Amino acid sequence: MQDIQQLHARLTRMLMEYKFGIDEVTTKIEILQEEFTHLHEYNPIEHVSSRVKSPESIYAKIQKRGFDPSMESIRDNVTDIAGVRVSCSFTSDVYRVFEMLSSQSDLTVLEVEDYIRDPKPNGYRSLHSLISIPVHLSDRVVDVTVELQLRTVAMDFWASLEHKIYYKYQTDVPAQLLDELKSAAETAASLDAQMERLHRQTHRLDGSIDV
Ligand code: GTP
Ligand code: MG
Repeated sequence: MQDIQQLHARLTRMLMEYKFGIDEVTTKIEILQEEFTHLHEYNPIEHVSSRVKSPESIYAKIQKRGFDPSMESIRDNVTDIAGVRVSCSFTSDVYRVFEMLSSQSDLTVLEVEDYIRDPKPNGYRSLHSLISIPVHLSDRVVDVTVELQLRTVAMDFWASLEHKIYYKYQTDVPAQLLDELKSAAETAASLDAQMERLHRQTHRLDGSIDV
C-alpha cells in the first residue's frame, strides 16, 4: 500500500515536469504564430491544444502493455504523457510548422510518423512526432518527451468525430461504419487538396509572397 502511495507521489511530481515540457513547446508555437503573422500577414495555425495524460490512463496503459510500474519504465515506455496538438489551415502549413519547430536547436526530434503521406488503414491522417525538450528546474535539467500531432482542420474534424463514433462501439464496429468512416476521411483529404489549390491560386493572384 505504501509502495503504491509512493509511486503515486513520484508520478504526480514527474507529471509536473511533463506539464512544463508542454509549456515550453506551446510557447515556441505561440512565438512562431505571432512572428509569422507579423512577417507574412498570415497565420498558418488555427488551433493548439494540449494535455497531460492522467495517472489513471498511465496506469491503465502500463498494465495493458505489461510494463513495469516504475518511474523509469513509465518514462521510457509511455511516450504520450505530454501531448500537444496543432491544427493548421492547409496541408502545406502542417509541414511548414513542423519544419520551423523541428529545426530549433534546443529541440530534438526522436521520431516522426507521417500518417498524411501514409494514412492509417482506417483513413486517419496526421503528422506525429516525438520530440524531446530540456526543462530547467530549480536544481536540474530534465529532458521531457512530448508527443506532437499536427494536422489540418479537416483532418482534425474527422479524427474528433471518428473517435466519438468509434468509442461508442468499443470492439465490434460494424463493417459498413468502418467503410463509411474511411470514405469520409478521403472526402476530407480531397477537400484539403482543393483548399490547398485555392490557397496557392489566391496568393499568386494578389501578388503577395508565397506563404
Ligand atoms: P497509442 O497507444 O494510442 O498511443 O498508440 P501508438 O503509440 O501506436 O501511437 P499512434 O501514433 O498510433 O497514435 C497516437 C495517437 O494518435 C492516439 O492516442 C490518438 O490521439 C491519435 N490517433 C491515432 N490513430 C487514430 C485514429 O485512428 N483515430 C483517431 N481519432 N485518433 C488516432
Ligand atoms: Mg502513442
